[in-house]
This record gives sequence, C-alpha cells and structure tokens, in this order.
Amino acid sequence: MSASKQKMRGGIIGGGLMGREAASAFGRWFVLNDFPAQAELVAVCDLQETLLEWFRQVPTVKLLTKDHQELLRSPDVDVVYVAVPHNLHEKIYLDVLKAGKDLLAEKPFGIDLKAARSIRDAAAQSGRFVRCSSEFPFLPGAQRVIQAVQSGKLGRILEIRAGFWHSSDLDPTKPANWKRQVKTCGEIGVMGDLGMHVVHVPFRLGWKPVRVYTQLQKIYTQRPDGKGGMANCDTWDNALMHVDALINGEEVPMRLETKRLAPGETNTWFIEVLGTEGGARYSTKEPKTLWLFERAKEQIWQRIDLGYQMVFPTITGGIFEAGFPDCFLQMWAAYAAERAGALGNRFGCVTPDEAVRSHELFAAALESHIKKIVMPLPNA
Ligand SMILES: NC(=O)c1ccc[n+]([C@@H]2O[C@H](COP(=O)([O-])OP(=O)(O)OC[C@H]3O[C@@H](n4cnc5c(N)ncnc54)[C@H](O)[C@@H]3O)[C@@H](O)[C@H]2O)c1
Repeated sequence: MSASKQKMRGGIIGGGLMGREAASAFGRWFVLNDFPAQAELVAVCDLQETLLEWFRQVPTVKLLTKDHQELLRSPDVDVVYVAVPHNLHEKIYLDVLKAGKDLLAEKPFGIDLKAARSIRDAAAQSGRFVRCSSEFPFLPGAQRVIQAVQSGKLGRILEIRAGFWHSSDLDPTKPANWKRQVKTCGEIGVMGDLGMHVVHVPFRLGWKPVRVYTQLQKIYTQRPDGKGGMANCDTWDNALMHVDALINGEEVPMRLETKRLAPGETNTWFIEVLGTEGGARYSTKEPKTLWLFERAKEQIWQRIDLGYQMVFPTITGGIFEAGFPDCFLQMWAAYAAERAGALGNRFGCVTPDEAVRSHELFAAALESHIKKIVMPLPNA
C-alpha cells in the first residue's frame, strides 16, 4: 500500500464547529495504520477573525483568508471541505468545482432538492471527486449492524427504525442561530440538518423509499437573538418520517426520526433492524454496546461490548472506545482512500446521488406533512 501513497492537501471553507473538527482529523492523520494517502491541512477560509486566529496554531496551514476565492486559487489545495450555512452550499460548492478542486461537502448538500441536483450535476460534469459528510456509520456498532444485514442472517426484514436525536433545543433560552431559520437552514429544517446521518446506512444497504407520511413539529418559534431581543425561529424542529421501503422486492415499514427536542438525548444516532431470524440494534447512547437478536430454540438478545474495530485500522488499542472525533477521522479516511482508488469493499462516504435521493425524500416528506397525505417518491 505504501507505494501508492497519495498526498491530499486540504483546504477548509467555514472554520466553525465542523471546520475545526476537520482540522482535528487532519492533525492526527498519523494514527491511521498503513494508509494509502497522506493528508495535510494547508489553507482555511472563514469570515471571522477569531476563528482564523484559532487556525494559526495548526503548523501546516499556510493560507488564512476571508475570501473563499483566494483559497480556491491556491495551487497548493487539492481537496476542499466546505462547512458553511446551508444557503451558501450551492454557490460555494460550485465555486470549488469550477476551481478544479475535489470536494468533501457538508450535508445537506444544498439548501433544497433543486440545489442538490445542481451540485450533483456539476460534480458529474467536472469529473472531480465529490462526497458528502456523514460520519456515524463509521462507528464500530454501526458497521456491525451493516454486517448483520449483509450476512443475510436476519431473515425477512420486519421493520427498521433509524434516527438522530438532539435535545439542547428543549431549553427555550438557548439563543437562535442560522440553523433555526428557513432562509439559512432551509424549508426542510431538521430533516436537512440531521437527516443525511439517518439515511446513509439505509440507502447504502439498497433500501429504497417508495412513499412517505410525515409528522413535523415546530416547538419554539422564538428564541433569544443573543443581542437582548428575540429572533423568529421558523424551521421544523422534529420530524417523524414513516416510510415504506422496498427491500428484496417487499415493502417494509421504516421509521426515520430527526429531532432537535428529544428529551435527554444529547446527540443520539441509532439504527435498529428487526428480521424474522435475527436483529441488530446500535445507538450512540450506549456507544460500546451492540445488541444482536437470534431466533434459536429460545429467542435471545445478546449484548456485546465493542472495542475499537474501525473501518480503517489505527494505532489505538483494540479494547478502547470510539467517539465522535474517531468516526469523523474514519469518514475522512474513507474519503481519502476512495479518492486514491483504494477503498476496496470498505464503507464509503455519501455519494452525490445518495445526497440527491435524501433531498427527494425530505422534499416529499415536507409535502406530505403540509398536505397531510402519503407522498410517493420519484421513480417509486
Ligand atoms: N457532519 C456533522 O456531524 C455536522 C455537524 C454539524 C454541522 N454540520 C454541517 O456543517 C455545516 C456547517 O455547520 P457548523 O455547525 O460548522 O456551523 P458554524 O456556524 O459553526 O460554522 C459555519 C462557519 O462558516 C463561516 N462562514 C459563513 N459564511 C462564509 C463564507 N462566505 N466564507 C467562509 N466562511 C463562511 C462562519 O463564519 C462560521 O464560522 C452545515 O452544512 C451543517 O449542516 C455537520
């Protein structure tokens, strides 16, 4: 593998919460064992001086700028990670592609379906390597659920539940930010914010949504604006998508949940697949616990303690626990490996087509809620 090492010189546009998380992934690239590509963060763009100041501590960063076009003009940048508010996705992603750079896009890959299709089409035309972010499926528990499904040992699938829950919005004094407003977050609200994380595994397993009935809720419609006043919050906060999914020629109930107000759930990503012969359940609520069901003479739910069995091996001891920065690094490793043509049969990042399909689902889900009807999915 070392013969095919490829250098990935990264630039970040949007150095907020996720931009700095990406810097952390680049910064400990050396933990990946015998990896096919090297990575180095070389340039960062953000509008905020304090954030650019933070990036000064990263020794490999040579360019700090408030103008994303300046970053894109740099011949030292091969791959750009863009983590900006959703209303800016389409413009900046297209600029990245026009500049001839590869792109790791943040979800939801455009503010709406139209934007997602335009990015997908531009990506295909450009020939650049483009993927979208979704890191939780790289956790060992999620991978074990995928393996359980792929083993065929679950029998006929009875039902699926998958979701991503947050809870900090239960506090009505939490200030508003761009994620709470349609003009910056998008009409699909929480589905755009959290939904890509929920559909990545179902889509990759080939489960095809056929129709959807959705319940959406707006809970707090005003929040402190951080300047002594109040700001309107007009995005959907909680979404329950009741989906019929086509699996092996049969329609199976699949409930997808994205919630900002899920009592007690700080950042809970979960998936549960139940079949006639077996089942698998994993939640970041209990990050090292995998539940596997087996219908033997007796019906058994087994609880398994997971260690650090990652998609891409690292120096970390096998008994240690994996957390958010670990799966985020693994996602970046998957991006770099696939870009270098070395992903093999390992799990990969969300493709532009999958991102568009997620938007097709969320657009139908929104219409379902507004009209109170079951919505068919395109090409269903
Ligand atoms: N993968 C994940 O787990 C995950 C988690 C949170 C957010 N996200 C996604 O990441 C993206 C960013 O979210 P965040 O939470 O990091 O937001 P954030 O508000 O913390 O950061 C966004 C940054 O973009 C900067 N910015 C705005 N306009 C810019 C411009 N024109 N040029 C350069 N920088 C600009 C802002 O100054 C800010 O620092 C969104 O798409 C969001 O959905 C992903």
